[in-house]
Amino acid sequence: MKKKLIMDVDTGVDDAQAIMMALAAPGVEILGITCCHGNTPLENVLKNTLRVLKVCNRLDVPVYRGCAEPLVAHKRHAGDFHGKDGLGDAPDPDAPGLDAVQEEKAAVALIRMVNENPGEVTLVATAPLTNLAMAVNLDPSFPEKLKALYIMGGNTESRGNTTVCGEFNFVADSEAAYVVLDRYTCPTYIATWEFSCRSSLPWSFVDTWLAQDTDKARFMERISSLTRKMVQTERYQKELVSGTEFNSCDTYAVAAAIDETLLTESERVAVTVELQGTNTRGMMVLDHMELLKKKHKAIIMKTVDLEKFKQLLMNALK
Ligand code: RIB
Ligand code: CA
Repeated sequence: MKKKLIMDVDTGVDDAQAIMMALAAPGVEILGITCCHGNTPLENVLKNTLRVLKVCNRLDVPVYRGCAEPLVAHKRHAGDFHGKDGLGDAPDPDAPGLDAVQEEKAAVALIRMVNENPGEVTLVATAPLTNLAMAVNLDPSFPEKLKALYIMGGNTESRGNTTVCGEFNFVADSEAAYVVLDRYTCPTYIATWEFSCRSSLPWSFVDTWLAQDTDKARFMERISSLTRKMVQTERYQKELVSGTEFNSCDTYAVAAAIDETLLTESERVAVTVELQGTNTRGMMVLDHMELLKKKHKAIIMKTVDLEKFKQLLMNALK
């Protein structure tokens, strides 16, 4: 039986890579993609997600409109990295229109799809967690009906890529991240910022990856050339953790969701999110001493099989 996935995205470039990886995985059925504010305003996230489905000839996958704003925080985007349109400022004149987006709202669709497939859906969250917070507020039993949750977000060593101590998804909606880590008690795997940096790939692999003679590879080359340039500027080199090269943050979470054998080392620990700190708001807090008495422990990803990961990436553009 195919693995049932739902992806919650803020399609930027690495979200696009994650969606293409999931679409190319033979044993995976994507029930739907819910969109959230984040890398770029929600309208662009919707447009970009449809563009990715178009280049993969998968416009049959339903796309749902989620939250355009964080729960409490001031909205922030990452346009200087992902481009004003969120997809490398490489527009497609024939991009699908937003009339292709479903009427049903994301949080409602999440609850419906999981109720239709209780215990079978793996949810992969590569955006700020606003939609997931809305879903559990609408239906408190939502998390227990999930098979597993994979999150790209947070940090383990207070390293920030957006604020001094904050990773983008957990800073963009810190209250939502707090709610999700507090109320989602299903098996929860977290691919953090430092983990993604340490699992990055050499640019020589990217050259091979993009050299594939396919429309998908040519699409990826176009939308990723801006981020490849930006990540090598001094501004972005500062945020990176030791020797980072090509860091496709979001794809680590989806790769582990596609193939559990990919995760080679992890750590179980109770986690929460700081909301008050002047410098630490949005930082993920790991409760190693178990002082917070949290029963639920998250599974923090430490290492993955990079050969298997590279193969999934190659397949994404075949
Ligand atoms: O910090 C990296 C995360 O923020 C990724 O999900 C990237 O797409 C951005 O949303
Ligand atoms: Ca993302």
